[in-house]
Amino acid sequence: MKTKIFADANLRVGEIDRNLFGSFIEHLGRAVYEGIYEPGHPTADENGFRGDVLELIKELNVPIVRYPGGNFLSGYDWRDGIGPRDKRPTRLDLAWFSTETNEFGTDEFMKWCKKAGITPMMAVNMGTGTILDAAHLVEYCNHAGGTTISDLRRANGAEEPYNVKYWCIGNEMDGPWQTGHLSADEYGKKALEAAKVMRWTNGEYEKNAPHDLKLIVSGSSNHEMKSFPEWDRVVLEHTYEAVDYLSMHRYYQYDEDRKRPLEDFLGSADDMNEYIGTLKATIEYVRAKVRSTRHLKISFDEWNIWTVDAPRNEPLWKKAPHLLEDVYTFRDALVFAGLMNTLLNNCDVVKIACLAQLVNVIAPIMTKKGGGTFKQASFYPFRYLAGNASGEAVRTFSDTDTFENMYGTARYINEAVTHDRAKREVCVSLCNYSQEARDVELELRSFGTLKAKEYVRMTNNDLDAVNGFDHPDTVKPEILDVPAVKDGSLVSLTLAPMSWSFVRFTY
Ligand code: AHR
Repeated sequence: MKTKIFADANLRVGEIDRNLFGSFIEHLGRAVYEGIYEPGHPTADENGFRGDVLELIKELNVPIVRYPGGNFLSGYDWRDGIGPRDKRPTRLDLAWFSTETNEFGTDEFMKWCKKAGITPMMAVNMGTGTILDAAHLVEYCNHAGGTTISDLRRANGAEEPYNVKYWCIGNEMDGPWQTGHLSADEYGKKALEAAKVMRWTNGEYEKNAPHDLKLIVSGSSNHEMKSFPEWDRVVLEHTYEAVDYLSMHRYYQYDEDRKRPLEDFLGSADDMNEYIGTLKATIEYVRAKVRSTRHLKISFDEWNIWTVDAPRNEPLWKKAPHLLEDVYTFRDALVFAGLMNTLLNNCDVVKIACLAQLVNVIAPIMTKKGGGTFKQASFYPFRYLAGNASGEAVRTFSDTDTFENMYGTARYINEAVTHDRAKREVCVSLCNYSQEARDVELELRSFGTLKAKEYVRMTNNDLDAVNGFDHPDTVKPEILDVPAVKDGSLVSLTLAPMSWSFVRFTY
C-alpha cells in the first residue's frame, strides 16, 4: 500500500511565527535551580548560569521562554525575587510543596534571557495577586525611571527598562488545583481589569490604539475540564478587545499500565488538532458576538508529553526537589513529533507555543547537579523542526489510512510541510504510526525544481528505549542518504515502522 501526500506552494496555511518554538521555565523542581542556574557548577558564569545548559538551549533554537510559572505563579509575589539576595525571603511554595529561596527572580531571568538571546514571556499572578501587583511588575520591568518601583529596578542593577512585550495574565485559573482558583466570570472580569491597568502602566491609554504589550488570557487547562469550552467563551467575552492571545495547555500521556491501547497515545497529534479547532471556533464565535474586527491568536503555552504524575518520592518542602523528571522514550519522541506537526499545521492561529518545560522538569534537557547533561529523545524532533521549519506551512492532502482511538480517528501517516520562500527551502516532517514499513509518495508541486539536502530518521526496535547520563545516545536520529527527486517534485520514501522522518529540500 502506498500513501500519497500532496502539497502545493500556493496552498498556504499561514506564516510560521518563530515563537511557535518557545519553551517554559517554572520555579518547579530543578528547572531553575540545578537546571539553568547553578552557581559553582564548572560551566557556570559569574551569574551562576550553567554554560552547558545554555549551549543545549541554543542548539534547540528556542526563541521565547515563559516564566515564572505555571502553578507556582498563582502564589508568587514577584517582590520576593528582587533586591539583595540575603534579604530575599524563603517561602513555602504551595503549588509544588517545595521551599523557594528566591535566589533567582525577575532580574536574574532577564539577565539569563539576554545571555541566551531569548525573548522573555512574563506571567502575572491572578491567584493571590492583585491587578495592582500585576501593574507594578509591568512598571518594574518597563518604566524608564523616576518612580519608586522603576528606580528599584535601577538600584538593582538594571538601568535600562527590560521592555517586556509578552505577558500571561495568570495561569490555568480554571483549575481547582490553582492557588486562588476563580470561576470563568470572576477570572474574566479580573483579567480585563488587569489588562487595563497593565496597559495604562505601559503608557497605552488610547482605547483603540494598536497594542504594544501582547497580553495572553488564560484559556482552559485542557479539553477534559468540565468547564471546557464554556470557560474560554466566557473569559473571551469579558476580555476580547483587551487581549491578544488565548492561552491553551495540553499534556498527553502513555498509559504505562497498558490499560489503554498504544493507539490512544498515537492518536494524540490528531486530538491536539481537534482541540485547537474547537478553540479557533470559540474565538471566532466570540469575535462575532462582540462585533470585533480583531482576530485573536492562540498561545499554546504549555504542551508536551507528561506521563509520571507529579511523583512525590521526595519529602515535602525540599529545595529544588526531583519533581516531574520524566525520562522520554522513543515512543514519546514519535508522538512528540506528531504534536509538533499539529502545531505547524495550525500556524495560522497558533502564534506562540511553549514546550513545557525546558530543563529537568518534563524537559528535553536533563542535568546532574555538579555534573553533566543528556538530551532526551524528544530533543531531536524539536531541534530539527525549530531549526528548519520556517516561512509558512502549506496544506497537505493525504490518502493515508486511519486507526480508531479514544479520541476518535487518527492518521497512520502524520505530516507537516513547510516552505521558506526567502531560504528557498521546503521541509517535510513525517510520522509513521503503523507497525509496518510504509511506502510514501510525496508530490511537492509548484515549489520549483527540488533537490533533497538532508534526510534524518528516528527509528528503534525498542519503543521503551531512553537516553540517560551513562547512555546519552541510545535514542537519536540517523542521517540517511538523501532521496532522489523525480521530475523535480516527486519523492518516494519508505518509512520504517514506527518512525519519524525529516527531509529538507532546496530549489
Ligand atoms: O508544567 C507543569 C504544570 O502543568 C504547570 O505548573 C501547570 O500550569 C500545568 O498544570
